Amino acid sequence: MVNRYDARLRRSVFARLIFIAGLAFGAASSCAQDADAIRQYQFEPASSGYQIVMKQVPRPVAGDNDVLVRVRAVSLNRRDLNMLHNDYGDDFSYAGSIPLSDGAGEVIAVGKDVSRFKVGDRVAGIFFEKWIDGAPSEEALLSDRGGNAGGMLSEVIVTHESGLVSIPEHLSYEEAATLPCAGLTAWVGLFKRGGIEPGQYVLLEGTGGVSVFGLLFSSAVGARPIITSSKDDKLKRAMELGAIGTANYRSNPDWQLKVREISGDHGVDQVLDVGGRDTLAKALEILAYGGHIALIGGLSGYGSDVPTDAIMWINATVSGVYVGSREDFEAMNALISEYAIRPLIDRVFDFEEAPAAFEYMESGDFMGKIVIRL
Ligand SMILES: NC(=O)c1ccc[n+]([C@@H]2O[C@H](COP(=O)([O-])OP(=O)(O)OC[C@H]3O[C@@H](n4cnc5c(N)ncnc54)[C@H](OP(=O)(O)O)[C@@H]3O)[C@@H](O)[C@H]2O)c1
Repeated sequence: MVNRYDARLRRSVFARLIFIAGLAFGAASSCAQDADAIRQYQFEPASSGYQIVMKQVPRPVAGDNDVLVRVRAVSLNRRDLNMLHNDYGDDFSYAGSIPLSDGAGEVIAVGKDVSRFKVGDRVAGIFFEKWIDGAPSEEALLSDRGGNAGGMLSEVIVTHESGLVSIPEHLSYEEAATLPCAGLTAWVGLFKRGGIEPGQYVLLEGTGGVSVFGLLFSSAVGARPIITSSKDDKLKRAMELGAIGTANYRSNPDWQLKVREISGDHGVDQVLDVGGRDTLAKALEILAYGGHIALIGGLSGYGSDVPTDAIMWINATVSGVYVGSREDFEAMNALISEYAIRPLIDRVFDFEEAPAAFEYMESGDFMGKIVIRL
């Protein structure tokens, strides 16, 4: 079994994505707010892994402390593909559950004891429905949306009022839907754990969701982001988004030396390590004195020869990051509002095209976030 959070993607998604758009569902889209039935996707076992299948289900009902949200946009993360492929192994069954952790929408009904939200509020779900603040409990970590808890790829969702945050005013629903996992992970790595400061050099690996948020956040606060990619056109775009330098990790296997050179031999003060096995040791090699590495992902697999003596010698800090709490989400939103940061959306798909959105992520031919509009 591969790591719980990540896995290599080995199989084609095409064989597993089945889209069932019955004519009966066609009219539901525009009136989901009032309809008795709503449309949602669910994971269904396939010959290998899962497929996502559109269903018509009864509209959920809000309990006394619950909120009904008309979901307007959702976004994809690497873990959603991992789930589709059953990369987390048979200990985890997603059959019948709703995919995708990240989404934003409008409050359409509240239970009688709800005090945090009212009808019409613009909200996003938090990644862990039960991680409110402080350190996580096991129960909190088992409340991940789109995994152990219900996901967001549904016209309407019901959730306890504590599982939502208000979204920044300047963001569209599509933009806000990118925040809960990738945005928050980057924020926790750089700000909460890393204590990033203006002028610091920041290493971002690849141009996926977490890394591009790292680029936008660090650039906004006056730090110096350096980003890698396998594609030169993405590196060019990254420079337009605020990178001070780039390296192509595909054409240059010693990319870390170029990154160190860009930093004027200072090294990098902050790293969001999403690459894992192929990147961690190289990032450590160029970590500045007192630097910080956030362990986030394993795009190349987990496990690495970690030079523990070097970590000690340079007085480095290494921290594990698993998204974050609602309190963290609210702190990130304050930063996003203060600096008017806008997430980078690569492409927006319609609800009926959800399988194609997964397929597009599988292609790797994107930068930033992939969104589905509902
Ligand atoms: N711990 C947590 O809380 C947490 C939260 C979110 C994500 N993650 C993990 O972090 C990783 C990134 O997630 P994501 O959603 O940002 O992924 P993503 O959006 O799918 O990013 C994929 C991109 O990463 C780059 N990449 C792929 N392999 C790479 C490698 N070996 N070295 C450097 N870059 C590589 C590629 O960029 P180019 O096309 O530019 O080469 C690729 O397009 C995943 O492992 C994910 O599971 C962890």
